[in-house]
Amino acid sequence: MQSNKSKQSTVSECRIVDIRKYSDSRGYLSVIENSIDIPFDIKRIYYLYMVPEAARGAHAHKELQQFMVATSGSLNVTLDDGTNKKTFVLDRPWKGLLVVPGLWRTLDNFSGGTVCMVLASEKYEAEDYIRDYDEFLKYKNS
Ligand code: TYD
Repeated sequence: MQSNKSKQSTVSECRIVDIRKYSDSRGYLSVIENSIDIPFDIKRIYYLYMVPEAARGAHAHKELQQFMVATSGSLNVTLDDGTNKKTFVLDRPWKGLLVVPGLWRTLDNFSGGTVCMVLASEKYEAEDYIRDYDEFLKYKNS
């Protein structure tokens, strides 16, 4: 995504996606495929676990697209576009949150044993992060 689009992005572009699931007497299996179930190619996967009470996140990305899934447990993801905020509850392994670039995010309210898997459209790049909220507001208004 171009930076201009990321500067203008809003929380209304983010949504919960029902992940495909297959079930039979052996239980459930869910699948996420590049560009079929999510609108980007996955270049990186990371996951958060054994999170204590403090919140994580508290940053924005300029270009990175993400798809977040609580494969176990539950957490809240609050997205903020500088004008509006929206909180999504991730509490099922077949519910994923599509996060567009250019949004401040806070992850909190992790239940015990939660694993939050994040599929990312780019490799790790420290320069893609905005870690200061005032800087984020300046970016959105520039
Ligand atoms: P950080 O981005 O601060 O975590 P959060 O998403 O909760 O804000 O990342 C924590 C540390 O992990 C930081 O030193 C950077 C490192 N890291 C990588 O090296 N590669 C990655 O893909 C990610 C997501 C983090």
